[in-house]
Amino acid sequence: LAGEPLKVMISGAPASGKGTQCELIVKKFGLVHISTGDLLRAEVSAGTEIGNKAKEFMNAGKLVPDEIVTAMVTARLSLPDAQEKGWLLDGYPRSYAQAQSLEERKIRPDIYIVLEVPDEILIDRCVGRRLDPLTGKIYHIKNFPPETEEIKARLVTRPDDTEEKVKSRLEIYKQNAQAILSTYLSVMNKIDGNRPKDVVFGEVDSLLSRVQKDKAKTTKLG
Ligand code: AP5
Repeated sequence: LAGEPLKVMISGAPASGKGTQCELIVKKFGLVHISTGDLLRAEVSAGTEIGNKAKEFMNAGKLVPDEIVTAMVTARLSLPDAQEKGWLLDGYPRSYAQAQSLEERKIRPDIYIVLEVPDEILIDRCVGRRLDPLTGKIYHIKNFPPETEEIKARLVTRPDDTEEKVKSRLEIYKQNAQAILSTYLSVMNKIDGNRPKDVVFGEVDSLLSRVQKDKAKTTKLG
């Protein structure tokens, strides 16, 4: 499709399925996936200065200071691939101040997706989550068990996925969600994330396809 590349933000509580949907979105739409959680975890494992600063906040289930995350995201967004292919921002902005930082730089999404899932399900999803450190793929011990014994043996658990820390992350999400929403109300779409992942993706897919078509039309006209 011709036209300007898509700019997408995906938001939702911890374990609402953002990372899972992003895998599927990237496969179909080829957008550059920018996940602040993934970027920060990579900094932590590489033992960088950013990683060392971020680690204690992440392990406690708290937000990493805005200036660290904002510098990381804006640097990533300005790289040529994100400009050419379009971007999918996952886990940012997470506070009103972060949303304002993007507004000041005139960085705005075409669509703001919110995945909605009840609290008790979020906790079960976090506690059962496992990650493949080799491929980055997200699994769940009950919902999405690994395909082979070999993968199973190398899966890791995130240090912030204990029940207690999930509750704290959820609380922080709720404190910030409303203020961020006010910035993106005109492009917001809520999606019921408490359904099988392919069903959720079906809805995400048709939303993004529609936005993409509309953008192509506007570009042609303009
Ligand atoms: P981040 O990594 O962004 O964590 P999060 O927002 O808490 O989101 P999660 O990664 O926990 O969940 P998800 O929605 O991606 O769900 P997933 O697809 O994995 O951030 C981590 C930390 O980094 C933060 O706490 C903070 O410290 C720091 N940070 C990050 N961004 C920041 C920012 N902007 N500012 C400051 N600090 C920041 O799915 C979860 C589980 O459910 C999986 O096991 C999956 O298999 C399963 N699942 C998924 N979909 C379904 C479905 N439809 N049905 C059943 N199970 C499903």
